[in-house]
Amino acid sequence: MQYILEQLEQDHRRMLRMMYLLSKDIHRLTGLDRGTANMDRILEILDYIQVYPEIWHHPTEDVLFKQLLSKKHVNVEAIHLLLNDHPRLEALSSQLSLIYSEFRVAGITPSQRVLQLSRHFCTGQIAHIHAERNIFAAISERFDEQDWQDVGNTLRDKQSSNEDTEQWDYIQRSQNLNRSNALTNTGLH
Ligand SMILES: [Fe+2]
Ligand SMILES: [Fe+2]
Repeated sequence: MQYILEQLEQDHRRMLRMMYLLSKDIHRLTGLDRGTANMDRILEILDYIQVYPEIWHHPTEDVLFKQLLSKKHVNVEAIHLLLNDHPRLEALSSQLSLIYSEFRVAGITPSQRVLQLSRHFCTGQIAHIHAERNIFAAISERFDEQDWQDVGNTLRDKQSSNEDTEQWDYIQRSQNLNRSNALTNTGLH
């Protein structure tokens, strides 16, 4: 079951690259970097962050982290902070996605407040990913075969109770993103 941790770490690497691109565009909108911001790319990144992590990445981490809480001598406070981050980051990505969609339609440049919120989102995501490295290491060290079996069973139950439409939506949006020029041009795939 270690492959779950490998997949999560692979997601983290991709997310960090996306946060780097998003920060770059935000700097361009703020005037800190030269060049024109790519609004299509901003929306595609926000779209990816809304769909993929929220359907598989965060729910999987939630199951692993809760299993880790059943162990002795773990950093309970750090685990709870990460668990609480998930709905908070998801709400923020939905909010930003909505805001940037409206800006693109209206052809308006985002306000300073929105740019500040975007920066806050990027730093929050990056800090979250870095904090998870320690927790992944604790999982790797402490989980025995029974823990991985429990985690596998919980994940299977969760998957079978998922709405088909949600899965379909995820597949469609991921495929669209994989075909996206804005991301492929920057060597993300
Ligand atoms: Fe997380
Ligand atoms: Fe994560």
